Amino acid sequence: MNMPLNNPAPGAYSAALTLLPQQTKQMSAAQAAQRPNQQEKAMLLDLLRTRRSVRRYTEQPVETEKINQILEAARLAPSSKSKWPWQLVVVRERERLDQLAAAKPHGAAFLKHAPLAIVVCGDTAASDVWVEDCSIAAFLLHLEATDLGLASCWVQLRLREHDEQQSAPDYVARILHLPPHLQPLAMVAIGYPAESKAALDPTELRKDRISSERLGEPWRS
Ligand SMILES: Cc1cc2nc3c(=O)[nH]c(=O)nc-3n(C[C@H](O)[C@H](O)[C@H](O)COP(=O)(O)O)c2cc1C
Repeated sequence: MNMPLNNPAPGAYSAALTLLPQQTKQMSAAQAAQRPNQQEKAMLLDLLRTRRSVRRYTEQPVETEKINQILEAARLAPSSKSKWPWQLVVVRERERLDQLAAAKPHGAAFLKHAPLAIVVCGDTAASDVWVEDCSIAAFLLHLEATDLGLASCWVQLRLREHDEQQSAPDYVARILHLPPHLQPLAMVAIGYPAESKAALDPTELRKDRISSERLGEPWRS
């Protein structure tokens, strides 16, 4: 179920969470966990409700400052055994974006009209759970883009085919000059939105996927 929700001002959510770098250094994890008040927690939920996969972008380039914030969000991701087994490749050249748009027959073509893609590549030699770590980083990119008033969409590469001869990750690896141990997992297309999508109404959303104590026993909130 969708409900209309006005998009908040870019950065509104992160502005509410006033953790400055120097403060994070001084603050213990326990203190930080207690810090956000109820209103701030509700703002994270608002961000999650507003986040949608948006595939149409204007031609306006994404400012480098915003790209840096998006990259910071990914760099803040938790990681199994603190390996951070990923490399992020920022792609802005039109010709290269057009090549990436052809990575697979379906679900990537809209990159032809995106001003930016960040390709999340997993280091398969560094960690056995690179898929999980890369997925968290990719999602945080997507979420931070939403917070900045940008549109974005995940483009799946892992386990997808470019054509009958080549996998989508192999095709992308060639374009980005990746060595064999770096596997491109996903490309996150980012730009200014050329369409608006309704926010999600969580009241009934996928409640049937939640059980209490044992599978199938409804969770009654
Ligand atoms: C793991 C994953 C892979 C996805 N792959 C693609 C993709 O290749 N192409 C695409 O257009 N959207 C892709 N999406 C976006 C989904 O289609 C989208 O999240 C879903 O339809 C729900 O819509 P929403 O994100 O607006 O809530 C992917 C999303 C995830 C989480």
